[in-house]
Amino acid sequence: MSNGPIADEVKRRRTFGIISHPDAGKTTLTEKLLLFGGAIQLAGTVKARKSARHATSDWMEVEKQRGISVSSSVMQFDYAGHTINLLDTPGHQDFSEDTYRVLTAVDAAVMVIDAAKGVEAQTIKLLEVCRLRNTPIITFVNKMDREVRESFDLLQEIEEVLKIDCAPITWPIGMGKTFRGVYHLLEDRVLRFAPGEEKRSEAEVIKGIANAQLDELFPLEVGKLREEVELIQGASHPFSLGDFLAGKQTPVFFGSGINNFGVQEILQALLDWAPPPQPRVAGVTAAGVNAADTRLVMPAEAPFTGFVFKIQANMDPKHRDRIAFFRICSGRYSSGMKVKHVRMGREMKLANALTFMANERVLMEDGVAGDIIGIHNHGQLHIGDTLTEGENLGYKGIPYFSPELFSATRLRDPLKSKQLQKGLQELGEEGAIQVFEQEGGNMLLGAVGQLQFEVVAQRLKDEYKVDAVFESADIHTARWLTFPDEVTRRNFEREQGMRVGKDVDGNPVYLATSRYNLEVTMEKWPKVGFHATREHG
Ligand code: G4P
Repeated sequence: MSNGPIADEVKRRRTFGIISHPDAGKTTLTEKLLLFGGAIQLAGTVKARKSARHATSDWMEVEKQRGISVSSSVMQFDYAGHTINLLDTPGHQDFSEDTYRVLTAVDAAVMVIDAAKGVEAQTIKLLEVCRLRNTPIITFVNKMDREVRESFDLLQEIEEVLKIDCAPITWPIGMGKTFRGVYHLLEDRVLRFAPGEEKRSEAEVIKGIANAQLDELFPLEVGKLREEVELIQGASHPFSLGDFLAGKQTPVFFGSGINNFGVQEILQALLDWAPPPQPRVAGVTAAGVNAADTRLVMPAEAPFTGFVFKIQANMDPKHRDRIAFFRICSGRYSSGMKVKHVRMGREMKLANALTFMANERVLMEDGVAGDIIGIHNHGQLHIGDTLTEGENLGYKGIPYFSPELFSATRLRDPLKSKQLQKGLQELGEEGAIQVFEQEGGNMLLGAVGQLQFEVVAQRLKDEYKVDAVFESADIHTARWLTFPDEVTRRNFEREQGMRVGKDVDGNPVYLATSRYNLEVTMEKWPKVGFHATREHG
């Protein structure tokens, strides 16, 4: 890390996340990117961590694993004169709202698609989140060394299902046992595939699609390649930087992560095309996101500002230690600086913030827009909180997401209901889980990943001395409600009664028993707004 003028430092930054369905190859790609960046020396480092994370469900282990996952939450490394921040989007069992929120803190995303499976469920959800901010997406079609689907089919599926135009940058030659490499459409050269190599050498590049060397090397595949390339050049979208930056078009690369093939091109695309840290919209009064007046905060502005997008709790249960992950949006972090906690209207000192270098946590010395710092705190920081060096600002665009899993809570010891209420309120405010209160005082928990319930149950026990039982609740999804006027609100609440709850901030929520139930209610109340997300603040 160096410390030139802020504007220069910002330009060197790339902050991105990887989105994929489990098993598409996110961990493998992460590892290869880190190897390229020189951030790790040994293949297998990230993978070993991943299997450690999922090896057991024993709580102490979960604790340990969550410790581990903090250091892999953000991986910073330098590559070709750039500082790259790779933010992990937790998947599998540790899929949670954090997975979504991380995407509100990146400037670009790499989407990994398993070439045999195409577009899968989790990818669809994660892409929807990217779409909230029109985040530019680079696509990596992985596992070309296997028997996979036709490339044209895959592109068509991406375009139709994800509603984003595809601009192929490389094109595969064969697949599986006969995967020969890719043709680079913009550079008019063939990159030969050699399985299992750590780094590709220039010797494997063949210039020009008409090159007779190709006929010699791949007599069986070259005809199809030339035909397909002609077709692409005639029919597909040419790459447009503007459309990519607007989130309308995705450049597509084919490769094989495990064989380290196509990875360097992804890294290069990030450097060449992905945007440096972008200006962000903020409300300009202490009312934060509710403020009517907003302005764009430029990343090179001198005053330090940023927001919390994730809280990691229980790093050390004895100390109730929590780490708030904070994205810097402008200015410069320096240890010991004083900042304003806008929501609380209070000054706080930022010292010993952490930065995350692939393998370890180290004390942060200097950070600018796009960098992520970890701030120790004891609950005073919530998701969506803004810290500034003076001006009252509230960053927008860190949403709560409609939960997909619901649990009702029951106490083993009914005398502890006050503590339960307090615990759930605080954990809800912190963003660990969503809490809805139903008529009659029932507390309902909502999450997007099962681990959120486990974490909350354990934290209630450790931090609030409450032994709560979670029972399944007959709820399919939740929607935040907005009403055109008071009369409509009262009528709706009277008719829907039990189906209406309140979130931790007192906002009304519709708790639907099924998709059908939601649709019917929406049809019946066309003037009422049903929202799948709500902004923090
Ligand atoms: P994830 O983080 O998205 O869940 O995926 P991960 O990288 O763990 O990859 C999932 C599986 O796919 C792994 O196999 C991995 O080795 C394999 N894989 C990743 N990239 C490629 C590729 O380019 N080609 C092929 N053929 N396989 C690939 P696994 O058997 O589940 O794990 P492991 O035993 O290899 O560790």
